[in-house]
Amino acid sequence: MASGTIATGIDPTVPSTARMYDFWLGGKDHFAVDRAAALEVSEAAPAVKVMALENRKFLRRSVRYLAAEAGIAQFLDIGTGLPTQGNVHQAAQQVNPSARVVYVDNDPMVLAHSRALKTSGNTAVIQADLRDPAAILDHPQVHALLDFSQPLAVLLVAVLHFIGDHDDPHAIVGSLRDATAPGSHLVVSHATGGVPGGESAGKVAEHYRKNVAAGSTLRDRDEILRFFTGLEVIEPGLVQVPYWRSDEPESPDAAKVWVLGGVGHLPGKPVKGPAA
Ligand SMILES: C[S@@+](CC[C@H](N)C(=O)[O-])C[C@H]1O[C@@H](n2cnc3c(N)ncnc32)[C@H](O)[C@@H]1O
Repeated sequence: MASGTIATGIDPTVPSTARMYDFWLGGKDHFAVDRAAALEVSEAAPAVKVMALENRKFLRRSVRYLAAEAGIAQFLDIGTGLPTQGNVHQAAQQVNPSARVVYVDNDPMVLAHSRALKTSGNTAVIQADLRDPAAILDHPQVHALLDFSQPLAVLLVAVLHFIGDHDDPHAIVGSLRDATAPGSHLVVSHATGGVPGGESAGKVAEHYRKNVAAGSTLRDRDEILRFFTGLEVIEPGLVQVPYWRSDEPESPDAAKVWVLGGVGHLPGKPVKGPAA
């Protein structure tokens, strides 16, 4: 990133998960410390760049599916990451120009770069922490844009592995689910050690634990499936992200991707007709 004024709260001396992910995705919003940390991780686990790219493709496919096939017009994207190509509002508004999106991240850099995420009054960006779901659910900008009496999608894509067990991520996801109307959807992707090649996930998690403030917790398939409690997981279920409704030729690295992803649906119908 070019030197210049650094917005309040951004520490350019400690690697951040958002900025390291930006580096792997080929973005430019990172500092030397992030590049060094990201390169160290890729040396220990070369597949990590493919993970980032495949995870991002999963995010876009799931949003397109929700907007086009599930009729979802409102999205709460928690753990947004830095703006890159094909952000959630672009994927959703390509299908439904009036789709509304609230982006949430606890990294101040995401807010500082939020202009790239805001293209219309249908999009907002807030700084908040997933570990405090009430602060997200009660946020005035969330309520200004999203109608919780109608179906919406909560996106928790590549973020729950940054929530340690001591913060009870399943309870956090449960409170988000309980705040949504029937017909709502939940999208989760999560790093796991439980797939072939997953031993390199362990090396990455170890590196995050030592060097990155957020740390990282790998979970097995059952623990990840438990995030969908009360929801119906739609086809093809919880799978390695390249295999989730892929619309392109299979990558030779697909089987090595140690990130599982899925989409769940809260059964039932909302009380009143769909929001505009
Ligand atoms: C790997 S990136 C994923 C970005 C995007 N969801 C995607 O999948 O392309 C993880 C993001 O989660 C954010 N994050 C990590 N812990 C968080 C927390 N406790 N609350 C909110 N955001 C968090 C990081 O700042 C980062 O931007």
